[in-house]
Amino acid sequence: MARVRFQPGGIVAPGVAGESLFEIGRRNGVPISTSCAGKASCGLCRVVIRAGEQYLTPMGPLERRHLGNVYFITKERLSCQARLQGDEADVTIDVP
Ligand code: FES
Repeated sequence: MARVRFQPGGIVAPGVAGESLFEIGRRNGVPISTSCAGKASCGLCRVVIRAGEQYLTPMGPLERRHLGNVYFITKERLSCQARLQGDEADVTIDVP
């Protein structure tokens, strides 16, 4: 079972391959900002990847439109677009 640790609250939530960080967070009561409910249009659901980026799907064009090409500096992803890859995924993120 994959898992995601949400900081600073410390909630560790189970997930499955294909689920977004946003979906896992919402299901477990993590307050991730949104006004588009996960459709990649509001840009409010940003999180910072602290560990396990290799277990996430690559950034796509919708996400780049909001975040640009500076992931290597900011480590920011849109949580509604970053999805778990693999059932052994182990990801830690900061939720602003
Ligand atoms: S929830 Fe709106 S862009 Fe992710």
